[in-house]
Amino acid sequence: MSRTRTSDVLVIGGGIIGLVTAWRAAQRGFTTAVVDPEPGGGAAQVAAGMLAAVTELHYGEQTLLGLNLASARRYPDFAAELTDVTGHDLGYRRCGTLAVALDADDRAHLRELHALQRQSGLDSEWLSGRECRRLEPMLAPGVRGGLRVDGDHQIDPRRLTGALLAACERAGVVFHRDWAERVDVVRDRATGVTTTDGTALTADQVVLAAGSLSGRLAGVPDAVLPPVRPVKGQVLRLTVPQRYAPFLSRTVRAVVRGSQVYLVPRENGELVVGATSEELGWDTTVTAGGVYELLRDAHELVPGITELPLTETRAGLRPASPDNAPLLGPTELAGLSLATGHYRNGVLLTPVTGDAMAHVLATGELPEEARAFTPRRFSPAALTEQPA
Ligand code: GLY
Repeated sequence: MSRTRTSDVLVIGGGIIGLVTAWRAAQRGFTTAVVDPEPGGGAAQVAAGMLAAVTELHYGEQTLLGLNLASARRYPDFAAELTDVTGHDLGYRRCGTLAVALDADDRAHLRELHALQRQSGLDSEWLSGRECRRLEPMLAPGVRGGLRVDGDHQIDPRRLTGALLAACERAGVVFHRDWAERVDVVRDRATGVTTTDGTALTADQVVLAAGSLSGRLAGVPDAVLPPVRPVKGQVLRLTVPQRYAPFLSRTVRAVVRGSQVYLVPRENGELVVGATSEELGWDTTVTAGGVYELLRDAHELVPGITELPLTETRAGLRPASPDNAPLLGPTELAGLSLATGHYRNGVLLTPVTGDAMAHVLATGELPEEARAFTPRRFSPAALTEQPA
C-alpha cells in the first residue's frame, strides 16, 4: 500500500503531549493529524496526576521550575476550557499536598527542601508531626513533621486524556491508527512519516511527541534524534470504601528509605499509590517486589492502607532526558519539531506544552518562557562548546 494523505501538521504520538499539541494546532487553523495505533494510551494511563511543581522541586532544576510553575498557573483556565469544549469532568482537585518525614534523616531532607522552596519564592508551610496528623488523621503516629503545600493540586490523567481526545475530534483532528515506522526526509526536510501498513502521511510540519519511543524512530538523523530513555514507574490503585471516607483529604507523600512514595486520593474514592523509578529499558512488568515496596512504604506512612481493596497494578514508562527537562520546539532538521522528554512532569506540563507548540507551529520559534528547552541544547555542536 502507498496511499498518501496530507495535512498542515502531523503529530507522531497520541499521548497527552501529542493530543494537546494537536488540539492547540487545530485551534490555530492548521489541518492536523495524529498517528498512533492507540491514541489516548501512553504514560498518562498510569500516572497519578500530581501537579507538584513545589513538592517535586529538586536542586539544579530551577529552570524547569519556571516552566512547571507557568503550567501550574494555567491549569485552572486550561481545565475549565477543556470541560467547556467537551463536557468532560477532569477530576481537577485543588486539595493541596502534604510532604511528611518519618525519621530524623527525612526531616533534615524536608527542611532542606523547605529552604530551597523559600529561596525560590514558593509557598510552603512547615508543620509539626502533630499538626500533620491533625490535617490527616490517618497518618502514622511516628510522623515527625511535614511541609504543607496548598498550591500543589491534582488531576485525573485518564479523564484528561479522554477530554483531550474528544477536544481533538471536535476540532477536526484526523487520527491514523497505526505505528509511524519512519520519518520521511526529502532534501534535508522532514516531509511526513510512513506507517507500518506502507501509507505515506505527508505534512508541512511534523511534531515528534512519542514519549519514551521518541528516541528510536527510524529516518531521524542521529544528530537530531532526541536523547530520551524510558524510566519505569509501577503504580497501584486502591479503592476507599464509603465507610472509610474521607481516608485522606489531600495528596500525602514522603521519601522512605530513599524512595519516593505518594498517595493521591480522588473524589471518586480511588487512591493512587506510586511510584517506583527503575532504569530497565522497555520492561513494563509489574513485579512482586515493586508492589511490595510501594505497599510497605505507603503502609509506614498511612498504616490503614492495608485495609483497602487493591484494584489495579500497572507500570508505565516516563520519557526521561539527560537534564530531566522536556525537549520542545524546532530541531536542526527543517520541518521537524519535538515535544517529548517530559519525564516526571508530563501531566503538569501539558497546558504550557500545548501553548508553546502552537506558537512554534505558527511562528517557527519557541515563546520566551520555553526557550531554555530547545532540543538544540543537546546538539553535538552545543555539547562540544566550551564555556568562555
Ligand atoms: N511525578 C511523579 C512520578 O513521576 O512518579
